[in-house]
Amino acid sequence: MEYNYAYFRNIADFVKDRIQCEPEVGVILGSGLGKFAETIEDPIVLPYAGIPGFPVSTVQSHAGKLICGNVNGKKVICMAGRFHHYEGYDFRLLSLPIRLFKLLGVRTAIVTNAAGGVNTSFRVGDVMLISDHIKLSSLSPMEGPNLDEFGERFFDVSDMYTKRLRDLAKSLAPGSGLRMQEGVYMYFAGPQFETPAEIRMARLLGADAVGMSTVTEALTAAHCGMPLLGMSVITNMAAGVVPDAVINHAEVGEAADSISDRFVAFTREIIKAL
Ligand code: HPA
Repeated sequence: MEYNYAYFRNIADFVKDRIQCEPEVGVILGSGLGKFAETIEDPIVLPYAGIPGFPVSTVQSHAGKLICGNVNGKKVICMAGRFHHYEGYDFRLLSLPIRLFKLLGVRTAIVTNAAGGVNTSFRVGDVMLISDHIKLSSLSPMEGPNLDEFGERFFDVSDMYTKRLRDLAKSLAPGSGLRMQEGVYMYFAGPQFETPAEIRMARLLGADAVGMSTVTEALTAAHCGMPLLGMSVITNMAAGVVPDAVINHAEVGEAADSISDRFVAFTREIIKAL
């Protein structure tokens, strides 16, 4: 499959015809954080399987549909179900969600994920505003011929997790009932959770949380000049942080569930204030 401009344009044209609106905000929902999608008013739902050329998310806790509708008076498009490299998807394909948003006219992206806490002052249920990321993998969603329609070959990523949006989120945090953190997200490809030694390395390198998504989307947003807010829900302490603890996907889902209502309300407040 060639991920050229026509590939993205065809998908966007198909979606545009069906949603009949220009969404301002694009939201990508992480593991166990799907409840936000249920709060979208007047939704138009497009299952991924019905969009020609669109991949299908294979992770059980990811729904696999695009939902377009209203959130606090703003037009929003939401990806309930994201794609990950560990599912076998090429890094270049992982640029699709943000490029689709871009072609639909989205001006702000909000991406969420479940993550393991590396910073020992974090607790399960905290929400971390992502300030930056570390990705040791040399892969990039922008590898291959540059698509000039989206952005330049060489692009700056120093404000990839847009400070203005983090400041906005911080200003809305009091009263949200959420314990808010800010820090660096480190990407591991998965699907295995990390080793305790990898987590010690991550901490030494300056990571506060680890996860298996988001960085491709953030890089794509930086490439096409889209402001982005990234938020991690700390669903577990990372490997080795709690002696003898075992990490499993069910626990990740339960922890995400436990703060889901507050997190959804917080995200809706952010959208309102954009
Ligand atoms: N590691 C990687 N990804 C994750 C974790 C973790 O501990 N928790 C939730 N997603």
